[in-house]
Amino acid sequence: MPPARPLTLVTGASAGIGAAFARDLAARGHDLILTARRAERLESLAGELRARHGCTVTVLPADLADPQAVHALCDAIAQRGLAVDWLVNNAGYGVPGTFEANEWATHEAFIRVLMTAPAELAWRLLPGMRQRGYGRIINVASLAGHVPGSAGHTLYAASKAYLIKFSQSLALENRHLGVHVCALCPGFTWSEFHDVTGTRELMNKLPKFMWQTAEDVVREGYDAVEHGDIVHVTGGVNRFIKALTKLLPDRLALWLSARESKRYRALEATH
Ligand SMILES: NC(=O)c1ccc[n+]([C@@H]2O[C@H](COP(=O)([O-])OP(=O)(O)OC[C@H]3O[C@@H](n4cnc5c(N)ncnc54)[C@H](OP(=O)(O)O)[C@@H]3O)[C@@H](O)[C@H]2O)c1
Repeated sequence: MPPARPLTLVTGASAGIGAAFARDLAARGHDLILTARRAERLESLAGELRARHGCTVTVLPADLADPQAVHALCDAIAQRGLAVDWLVNNAGYGVPGTFEANEWATHEAFIRVLMTAPAELAWRLLPGMRQRGYGRIINVASLAGHVPGSAGHTLYAASKAYLIKFSQSLALENRHLGVHVCALCPGFTWSEFHDVTGTRELMNKLPKFMWQTAEDVVREGYDAVEHGDIVHVTGGVNRFIKALTKLLPDRLALWLSARESKRYRALEATH
């Protein structure tokens, strides 16, 4: 049985999809723990949610690129006597450019935030969920994890494919214990993501039907994890792209990815 007020930890709650998760779940009667680096953003969101929904919101700022961050975060949660029922592994960003064009430190930080931190958070919080016989883990992956890798943003598709496979295994290991795990796979979503990667102008050239709001992504994510879906691609257009990719022979799919990467990088050069 779910607790009367489930407690949800949202990573990357200071913007975009994470902030939308916090708003959506607060409206559904959840208490929250919000984390990201920008403490003032988190405090402001916490104030808004307390005032609007009367929920308890704990703000625990953390830089997930720091190898000690997850341990410290989970210690801080335990010290407050809090038990996390829902984990939304959402924090993420893109690294533009090719693999060799970026410093190793950049790649290392990326791997920590997008791959190590979600796995470590799940590892630390799962035992409590299993013990209580109730838990939900949403790993925010991407459509990028289902389509061939691109030239540029080299580790991004790889990290999202990893999250999808990780979610599948974790879901199979835990579903008989009341813990649902879902890899949520959005396509292009309005958020600060493309401002952070510096690709906003480029992205604005994409047709509007390719885009979803963060709120729509979150609503689909909530329904998917409650329904027990292990992998959920959001939006009809994205599901069509995923299905089409599966139908194409690998070589043709890779050729298309190479063509799109080239077009993208040509546009990038003009900005
Ligand atoms: N937007 C899209 O088109 C799209 C599509 C598919 C999947 N996604 C995925 O959706 C997730 C959320 O992205 P978004 O679109 O909502 O982007 P966003 O608006 O830029 O939000 C990203 C969040 O991640 C946090 N974050 C970044 N680096 C961090 C770090 N080192 N430590 C802790 N938190 C960190 C940011 O907080 P601080 O800067 O305050 O730390 C922010 O709250 C990501 O995993 C992304 O890969 C996005």
